[in-house]
Amino acid sequence: MNWIAIGDISEIPLRGARCVKTPQGKIAVFRTAENEVFAIEDHCPHKGGPLSQGIVHAKAVTCPLHNWVISLETGKALGADEGAVRTIPVRNQDGALFIALESLMMAAE
Ligand code: FES
Repeated sequence: MNWIAIGDISEIPLRGARCVKTPQGKIAVFRTAENEVFAIEDHCPHKGGPLSQGIVHAKAVTCPLHNWVISLETGKALGADEGAVRTIPVRNQDGALFIALESLMMAAE
């Protein structure tokens, strides 16, 4: 697994996100109210909305464009909507965050 450093957890607001650009596309990295960190593609499965600009609640994010709710754990749309984004493994080492870029390449194959 190829872990890429993406900065410190303190750079992400609580219940917020930041967008990380990678060779495999934009990744939205979220921090929940419980200080958990999740990473998913920054591309809503509905019409490509920027999920990193959505509202974080529990372990989900509401897309800023048309309010689909996406699970941060599974990347799947919740409720009546259908679709999914890729989830990316995140490692939190005393606040230093890493994402597994290699798994992105595998997922793209
Ligand atoms: S693009 Fe996300 S809900 Fe439509």
